[in-house]
Amino acid sequence: MTSLGALGSRLEERLRSRSATVGIVGLGYVGLPLAVAFARAGFRVIGADADPARAALLAAGTSPVEDVPTADLRPLVESGRLTVHSAPDALGEADALVICVPTPLGKSKEPDISFVVAAADGVARILRPGRLVVLESTTYPGTTDEVLLPRFSRNGLRVGEEFFLAFSPERIDPGNPTWGLSRIPKVVGGVTPACRHLAETLYRQIIDQVVPVSSTQVAEMVKLFENTFRSVNIALVNELAIMCRRLGMPVWEVIGAAATKPFGFMPFQPGPGIGGHCLPSDPHYLSWRSRLAGYEAKFIAFADEINGGMPRYVVELVRDALNEQTRAVKGSRILALGVAYKAGVGDVRDSPALEIIEALENLGAHVDYADPRVPQVTVGAHRLKAVAWADAERLVSEARLVVDTRNATGGLGEFRHVVRL
Ligand SMILES: NC(=O)c1ccc[n+]([C@@H]2O[C@H](COP(=O)([O-])OP(=O)(O)OC[C@H]3O[C@@H](n4cnc5c(N)ncnc54)[C@H](O)[C@@H]3O)[C@@H](O)[C@H]2O)c1
Repeated sequence: MTSLGALGSRLEERLRSRSATVGIVGLGYVGLPLAVAFARAGFRVIGADADPARAALLAAGTSPVEDVPTADLRPLVESGRLTVHSAPDALGEADALVICVPTPLGKSKEPDISFVVAAADGVARILRPGRLVVLESTTYPGTTDEVLLPRFSRNGLRVGEEFFLAFSPERIDPGNPTWGLSRIPKVVGGVTPACRHLAETLYRQIIDQVVPVSSTQVAEMVKLFENTFRSVNIALVNELAIMCRRLGMPVWEVIGAAATKPFGFMPFQPGPGIGGHCLPSDPHYLSWRSRLAGYEAKFIAFADEINGGMPRYVVELVRDALNEQTRAVKGSRILALGVAYKAGVGDVRDSPALEIIEALENLGAHVDYADPRVPQVTVGAHRLKAVAWADAERLVSEARLVVDTRNATGGLGEFRHVVRL
């Protein structure tokens, strides 16, 4: 039995009975679905987002996040179960606070935890006895204990007795219809056993399976390992695609056949590079922290080099394929199909498609794009508007040349004018 003390026991009871108020700091891809899940579970939820325009949009009941339909958000806002503000002071009444702010990279690919620091400073100002704070932002091992804990302890509050602090990595996969928030097991590490127990209690109200680990550092490392695993395996399969091309064989067939092995193999798909807020950044949080401890991470560096080189490789494919048809990139009209960093989302952060479009434009091509989820996009210094979406089948029948980096045409057969990665 974990000893919770009087304040912890009261909070536990309030969490179990869902009479507690939950505060969410940062209402983006991670924070908004979480706020909605807690509100739907019966909690009163207060959300704060530092972007006033976003806060106003949400306060009007409109969702900018694909996985949260406005139809789900609006009734929660209208009934007052979920309120949204732009100032962190509004979170003063929350019993449990969850921080979901961005953790990007700085110019030299070092962790930029300035959003976490700002959010933690905001929470420190309103932290009162009996509160639980959980950090969900992906970050390097040690952030919760070294960056958050001293800020919250400054006013004399004792962790594990008077307030509670934990780390629980967010694992959502935007656009994934199978694995929604409640079905993805939630890893939780606390500064003390009481902290962990209360964070577990919080998440058990909305998530089927909670996985406690021994410390906040382990919980932080779990997330970095998961995303490094993905990044490294994507790099491996991207390199396989490069090798298969040199050796004159279809990489997709190789992967598909290898994936029939029922054990010891997990298929990853090659592509034009990696994007989004997570995969291009998270592994660098780990290599940066490891470097401070005197160890230079090798797989992370290799994966970064290979994945980071894929947009250039795709531009070369396009150039060579045009060349085969005795055409130049310069003056060609090119349609980029899909600019979001992955299927099912409208998120273009760090999308390799943008790098490819810009490089093709720099070579003199006139590039349009189609993406049903991205009405307009900024490439370099100018803005492009989406043209009407065309499906792969129509493209194959109408376009003079198709360069397919995602095997979208795989099921349609072999054609001389279709070049696959
Ligand atoms: N997007 C994903 O698929 C995903 C999945 C798992 C984990 N994560 C991690 O979760 C964290 C958040 O990612 P995201 O994709 O939700 O980011 P996001 O940019 O979509 O949302 C973050 C929100 O936080 C707000 N914000 C910034 N500073 C703030 C502050 N001080 N106070 C209040 N609000 C503030 C921003 O205005 C923004 O709306 C990151 O660490 C990310 O690595 C993201």
